[in-house]
Amino acid sequence: MSGLTNKRIVLGVSGSIAAYKAPDIVRRLQDLGADVRVIVTDGGREFVSERSLQTISKNKVHNNLWDKEAELSMGHIEIAKWADVVIIAPASANTIAKLCHGRADDLLSTVILATEAKIMIAPAMNQQMFAASAMKDNLGLLKARGIDIINPGFGDQACGDVGEGRLAEPIDIASQAAELFTSSLLSGKKVLITLGGTREAIDPVRFISNHSSGKMGMALAHACIQAGAKTTLIVGSISIELEKRAEIIQVISAEEMYQAVMKQIDNQDLFISCAAVADFRPKKVSKNKIKKDNQSMTIELIRNRDILASVCQLKKKPICIGFAAETENHIINANNKLIKKQCDAIILNDISQTEIGLNADENEVHLITKNRTEKIEKNTKQIVAEKIIDKLVNNFFNPS
Ligand code: CTP
Repeated sequence: MSGLTNKRIVLGVSGSIAAYKAPDIVRRLQDLGADVRVIVTDGGREFVSERSLQTISKNKVHNNLWDKEAELSMGHIEIAKWADVVIIAPASANTIAKLCHGRADDLLSTVILATEAKIMIAPAMNQQMFAASAMKDNLGLLKARGIDIINPGFGDQACGDVGEGRLAEPIDIASQAAELFTSSLLSGKKVLITLGGTREAIDPVRFISNHSSGKMGMALAHACIQAGAKTTLIVGSISIELEKRAEIIQVISAEEMYQAVMKQIDNQDLFISCAAVADFRPKKVSKNKIKKDNQSMTIELIRNRDILASVCQLKKKPICIGFAAETENHIINANNKLIKKQCDAIILNDISQTEIGLNADENEVHLITKNRTEKIEKNTKQIVAEKIIDKLVNNFFNPS
């Protein structure tokens, strides 16, 4: 397993304007498979509501060291023992100073003292405060004690200043936490993944495309990176953030995607064709915007090249994995695709169910190879992706 699957993370939210980003940090951690509990300090509560944190984390938010009821349900020592990682994001200047002194005057600082878990802090404050020598010394001290510092970014600040001190992006905070658990399942391997939908131009403003969000492909990218692979993504149209740890090549049309794949395919060990590639494109792309002069119009479409099938025809080809998005006769259609495209495995998606597959946050798939069909039960796309990678490694790189 990789990512943050089944990892228990305590997110400490302290008093900084950047606390408004805390619900997004919870989301990003959950996207990677983590179970998240939030402790918010009194300062943090000034900037983000407990209700949003509770709704998103799906767990009670902890705040008060002296709340008898809260202590009965999960006391501070229990929280400290429960955590695999404690992340303080945002970490205010005051919270950082308290950590240095080992103070225990609120729930968060007490949990920090009481935990054996790895601690990460993401400072967020005014650039002048961040540049202060006391802050530099404090961060140096925490680093020397083995606490990971997630460096803040440079840019415009809420106070109007420009400089270093902005909270790191939520996706980067989650990725750095996931790096703590990186496996070596795919270490030394190169993986190429296509994802997202392609757009086939009709005229300068219109195109034909599909509902692909790129979520499954990006989840596979996270899983491959966590497993130690050098990962390259050929990305069509998506509605999610890019994975910064991968090499990214952005394309628009199926033909561009084909060209980009062929340019990158040499020396790849694994090719995962997750993109929803348009099978057809308009035969003629109008140079000017088409006017609605007539009551009806016809667009003639011609076939696009099949990227996956083309890669499978290469003499020196990587292990090739395709996706089959099916609405009926699922297993039969997917097996036919496996044979027709001559790939090593097909991942079958039932797209007739709205809560899984295209655009959804969850998925349930079958991994089909020549010899067997294995079901991967419904779960978040990240967890499904990690299971797919585990199975691919077992089938093709580590057969027993
Ligand atoms: N694919 C591809 N190039 C295309 C079309 C599809 O590489 N021009 C890949 C997809 O990325 C996916 C697999 O082929 O991995 C299956 O795509 P799918 O659309 O489900 O099947 P098709 O081959 O297009 O067949 P049909 O639309 O008839 O189901």
